[in-house]
Amino acid sequence: MNIDLPDIAAMDAFGRRIAAQLRAGDVVALEGGLGTGKTTVARAILAALGHSSEVPSPTFQIIQTYDELDPRVVHADFYRLKQPSEAEEIGLDDYREGAVLLAEWPDHAGGFAHEAGCLTIRLEVVGEGRSAAVTRGADWLGRLND
Ligand SMILES: Nc1ncnc2c1ncn2[C@@H]1O[C@H](COP(=O)(O)OP(=O)(O)O)[C@@H](O)[C@H]1O
Ligand SMILES: [Mg+2]
Repeated sequence: MNIDLPDIAAMDAFGRRIAAQLRAGDVVALEGGLGTGKTTVARAILAALGHSSEVPSPTFQIIQTYDELDPRVVHADFYRLKQPSEAEEIGLDDYREGAVLLAEWPDHAGGFAHEAGCLTIRLEVVGEGRSAAVTRGADWLGRLND
């Protein structure tokens, strides 16, 4: 599934559409190079789930948690991991318990596409806007159909 995201309003709408379908245990794997809009999608999802204050880009602390949301959210930016095993060392599995994971640079953490609950969003710059190639894991097949 390919989605045109010409501006920030389209990113917000896309975030709302995903947020409405999220369940604890899911992963939203946000792929694409620097500046393609990964954090923007994560922010849009968090806002749609009811988070109203700032959403820092977790580039330096790697993991940022939003425990007050339902489902709880873990926003991670794995860019700085030197090897996938570091994801385990920082306690990713514990953070993920009962939460949704929004993952930037998922390949740096070993990737999540093998999980049935993984929604992969590959972002690309197109002119002034972006496009998203969306791949759904088995648990997502009944979702995002509209
Ligand atoms: N669909 C879009 N159209 C236009 N600009 C966008 C879009 N999505 C994101 N941007 C802009 O692109 C820049 C980088 O976005 P960001 O989400 O930080 O990228 P990443 O996390 O992938 O590095 C930001 O200035 C953001 O406002
Ligand atoms: Mg980012």
